[in-house]
Amino acid sequence: MEKDKLFRPLNSIFDFTSLELNPPGELIVRNLSDMDFMYQDQDRVTEILQKNDPVIYRFYNVEIPETAGHLQHCVSMVFPGKIGREYYMTKGHFHEIEDTAEAYFTLRGQGRMVMQSTEGKTDIKEMKKGTITYVPPRWAHRCVNTGNQPLVFFAVYRGDAGHNYGIIEKKGMKKIILEEKGKPVIKDNPRYKN
Ligand SMILES: [Fe+2]
Repeated sequence: MEKDKLFRPLNSIFDFTSLELNPPGELIVRNLSDMDFMYQDQDRVTEILQKNDPVIYRFYNVEIPETAGHLQHCVSMVFPGKIGREYYMTKGHFHEIEDTAEAYFTLRGQGRMVMQSTEGKTDIKEMKKGTITYVPPRWAHRCVNTGNQPLVFFAVYRGDAGHNYGIIEKKGMKKIILEEKGKPVIKDNPRYKN
């Protein structure tokens, strides 16, 4: 990838039928086995993984220099599904450079953005076609698909922001989204490690 200041303008196009970005840039796919430990119902995880390893989400990262003046951007999709009563979701992360925000524009589907600040505050915003969600600096963020079609969104963030997955991998998030009587409900995460 070019690192110079004269990096060329780019166009990418997202196909809403195939759910693919062209050119694809860097495609990252997360299967259940990549995040099996994050779900509440560990018996159900084991049961599913004995049969197959479903794709939970994937994202197309447009290849942009990872420097402060650039804007990384991606199109992501979380597939519909549940592990027990818990909806498919992204792993969730803080940014490595804490002082960097992110904006999400939802293109399709239904979901929730679960956020948690470094001070331990929590916030949950609805995601649906047309919502623009702002994630301020120092807030971890995870997207949860509460609908029955792919949750598709575009996100943009500072080029050098980086991803810190480790904190959420170790501690989890305080709030989780479960299905109750056919509807998404917010619950305290009994497995959260403070
Ligand atoms: Fe992010």
